Amino acid sequence: MSQLLSHFQDLEPTSFESSWKSPANIAFVKYWGKKGHQLPANPSLSMTLNECTTTTKTKFTPAEKLSVSLKLEGKTEEKFALKIHNYLESLLTELPFLNKLQIEIETSNTFPHGTGIASSASGLSAFALTLTDYLKHLRPEEDESIFLKRASFLARLASGSACRSVYGGFACWGDSEMSETTDKYATALSVHPELAHLHDSVLVVSGKEKNVSSTAGHGRMGEHFFANARYAQAKYHFTKCVAALKAGDMEAVGEILEAEALSLHAMMLTSPQVYTLLKPNTIAAMERIWAFRRETKLPLYFTLDAGPNLHLIYPDQFQHKIATFINHELSPLGEKIIHDKVGEGPSRC
Ligand code: PMV
Repeated sequence: MSQLLSHFQDLEPTSFESSWKSPANIAFVKYWGKKGHQLPANPSLSMTLNECTTTTKTKFTPAEKLSVSLKLEGKTEEKFALKIHNYLESLLTELPFLNKLQIEIETSNTFPHGTGIASSASGLSAFALTLTDYLKHLRPEEDESIFLKRASFLARLASGSACRSVYGGFACWGDSEMSETTDKYATALSVHPELAHLHDSVLVVSGKEKNVSSTAGHGRMGEHFFANARYAQAKYHFTKCVAALKAGDMEAVGEILEAEALSLHAMMLTSPQVYTLLKPNTIAAMERIWAFRRETKLPLYFTLDAGPNLHLIYPDQFQHKIATFINHELSPLGEKIIHDKVGEGPSRC
């Protein structure tokens, strides 16, 4: 049992309500492949966003048995309620009192479904934060300093990348050469002041639901011919990316961003059951970005999630020229653009 959940065994539930707003994040070094129970096969690093957030209110009421109801944008969503129910059941050994709770969740996103931004990181980190708040309510004497660690630990068990969203700025997750990183939860990463205000404009090439989920994609790494080479590359990129972020070297960060995006999608193209989530306009946009960089020498780079949409990353000081290029030259290749930037992390609301 993890130390972070070790002293909640003999508690009796009481009524409580908690509300959190939590952001999505974009990985600079990607988590792709698992080991053990929700542990990453390689370290990852991400930037927390500002505008793309989920707000979640959770009401905990003592009851005879565990039940979960969930409303998304005011509409009952049984599929998500079941997901949370299964997640809470998986925590019963550490937190047996969960079995005696009625849990009512109301949640909403600032980014509508179909914008190609995964809501699992923001949604599940917001829920994990309300659950962590509840644990704090039950054990108020607990040390405040472990609050975010515990929230990150609980978020990881719900969805890997969600564990990085509990911190503002940048976050690392997974064992690495850095002593403070661990597979169990994410830790905050401080970066050079020049890179502390990066933008992320998301070019939504397609907002349609993807046909191979991230869970299935992680699974396909299990028997992937290149899995070990990919994990070694991610470790190498992780160390280089941390160093570049700390040194304020945007060019080095940008090279890793694009290499990571293309490696992630190369894993899909070469997996035992081949597939791709890229669309023709994803490639067309990449080519325009490379041409723009060649011609202007301005630091605009892209990365990709497990989907066709480009996250366009650039420093604040070039915002005007780069946003003009994005709005005029890239927007015809997509359905819409969401201009976001690095954010300060979750907050109670
Ligand atoms: O957290 P999951 O299981 O949705 O996986 C996230 C995978 C990527 O978004 C592609 C990479 C990452 O590190 O966020």
